[in-house]
Amino acid sequence: MNITNVNEYEAIAKEKVPKMIYDHYASGAEDEWTLKENRNAFSRILLRPRILIDVSKIDLTTTVLGFKISMPIMIAPTGQHKMAHPQGECATARAASAAGTVMTLSTGATFSVEEVASTGPAIRFLQLYMFKDRNVATQLVRRAEKAGFKAIVLTVDSAVFGHREANIKNRFTFPSYVRMKNYEGMGLERTKDSSPASVTNGIYDGSLSWKDVKWLQTITSLPIILKGILTAEDSKLAIQAGASGIIVSNHGARQLDYVPATITALEEVVQASEGRIPVFMDGGVRRGTDVFKALALGAAGVFIGRPAVYALAADDEAGVRKVLEMLHDELEITMALCGCPSLKDITRDHVFTERDRPRIAPRL
Ligand code: FNR
Repeated sequence: MNITNVNEYEAIAKEKVPKMIYDHYASGAEDEWTLKENRNAFSRILLRPRILIDVSKIDLTTTVLGFKISMPIMIAPTGQHKMAHPQGECATARAASAAGTVMTLSTGATFSVEEVASTGPAIRFLQLYMFKDRNVATQLVRRAEKAGFKAIVLTVDSAVFGHREANIKNRFTFPSYVRMKNYEGMGLERTKDSSPASVTNGIYDGSLSWKDVKWLQTITSLPIILKGILTAEDSKLAIQAGASGIIVSNHGARQLDYVPATITALEEVVQASEGRIPVFMDGGVRRGTDVFKALALGAAGVFIGRPAVYALAADDEAGVRKVLEMLHDELEITMALCGCPSLKDITRDHVFTERDRPRIAPRL
């Protein structure tokens, strides 16, 4: 497969999987304004390269929650990888571990925490949707701890399932081979049908609130990262509630439409968190330059969602490996050409955003 950039996998995936599955991956909520904006906002940020700096060696390594990883690019949780490839999350996990980076396993995965752990040791996180039945949540977190997962990523933007019209139009339901291996057999009642909205609204808890973030800390000693924060206000509350990290995320624009692109919201969250906990982001990251822009605006790292799923559908584990490799190499080139030999050399002054118009170029 002669692939030159991450975006090319989408067209291949579209050919390979049934239309309703591709639509499920690709679509966002309602008018999909935020879906487009997640990409468009990146394209409005320009780079300010510095020259004549020794960039003969570039170091992309970093740490996340104290764990060393090869680059600040990680895999976001996306559910049901078996719909993309029979090897599902196990293939994704192998690709992430070969690349030396983190995979976040979805609560709705089609391979369990134990099965994914059996692919070999690696730094992995478990994404948690809070179950109405706290017993199920407790058991799953305990199993993740035992399987060597290093953090819980609690998704906080999904009180109800987003209004995704592509799924409704297609009458999308999970195929019968899809089994949610992290919680099947744990006594949850069957939902009225197997559409994503029914499954989600049926078992996950819409009453989730800040007190549950505290509760989660009473059942695990793993660090807790809150995924789905878009405002300064909530980043302050996250710190007060004891979060160890924040992911600025709009769920790949699948939940609430007309929220800002995550790259736009990032800076206010970074500023409000005052360096007390790491702030990550996901949403629309498709290029090494996107990663560089996020880091310049204060992100400690980024996560990718759809690119990994498309690559998995297109070319199994090799596809996911290639996506991670291409983003790594593009980031490396961007750093070299911007005069940044290491990640700590990337600063706010390396990017020019809409906020900077009055400051730097009032006439633009
Ligand atoms: C998701 N996302 C998601 N998030 C989460 O917390 N738990 C989940 O199970 C899922 N499942 C899921 C499935 C699919 C098909 C997609 C596309 C997304 C959201 C995901 O973690 C991430 O926030 C976005 O995908 C990031 O945006 P990009 O990289 O897809 O643009």
